[in-house]
Amino acid sequence: MRRPLIAGNWKMHTTYEQALELASAIQARCGMVKYAEVVLVPPFPWIVPLSRHLDGSSILLGAQTCSAFDEGAYTGEVSAKMVAPFCRYVIVGHSERRRLFGETDAVVAAKLRAVLRNGLRPILCVGETFEERESGATRETVERQITVACNDLEREQVARLVIAYEPVWAIGTGRPATPVDAELVASWIRAWFRERFGPEISEGLRILYGGSVTASNVVDFLALADIDGALVGGASLDAREFCSIVEAGVGRAHRLAVGG
Ligand code: PGA
Repeated sequence: MRRPLIAGNWKMHTTYEQALELASAIQARCGMVKYAEVVLVPPFPWIVPLSRHLDGSSILLGAQTCSAFDEGAYTGEVSAKMVAPFCRYVIVGHSERRRLFGETDAVVAAKLRAVLRNGLRPILCVGETFEERESGATRETVERQITVACNDLEREQVARLVIAYEPVWAIGTGRPATPVDAELVASWIRAWFRERFGPEISEGLRILYGGSVTASNVVDFLALADIDGALVGGASLDAREFCSIVEAGVGRAHRLAVGG
């Protein structure tokens, strides 16, 4: 059974005080959740203090990106090696990194390797732009992004990978994909991994949906066969909203456990 994963990407939001307050509120309601994995992905400077703050709870931490290098003369970069003692996950290839910071598929692939090399788990974001969708290139785009990043991975590395399908036009717009479309793309992603790595790996792979997820629409995504969780942006900055999303993830785990 694939354990549901709910990750909250705080992006470049929160002051230090707000970060502690948000983490405390989430911890109070979801700090002992077992059946779903809960991952907070704060800005870099809050990772270390939050790891202390959340000590003893089941909540995990992630980083929003990392350098492709482990150490050296790379002013301003933060490596996977540096965050490894405090995090379990690193997001790579988020569309904001690709679009605003010029990260190509090749750069994303190098970062993914840095994450794996340092014993962490990548959450690889893939998804089409509005223009790609309109021109019927959704499958081609997503498969290209996955091929460049994942084609040469070892099976053991793929076992640590999480994919987040995030259509670019759905991020931060309040217009999520329809569940039917999200399931279709997730099924293409799983089919790609089945073809390349076989059924055991593809059946174990967790695929998240991201893009305008809220407490009210997440239930529809988590009812889908191929969607194992959510990557949440805006709604992860509100503790009540985020905890409701986590509870929907727990609900999915219960349904799967009873075979529903
Ligand atoms: P959103 O962001 O939930 O605010 O649309 C999702 C993301 O960027 O991962």
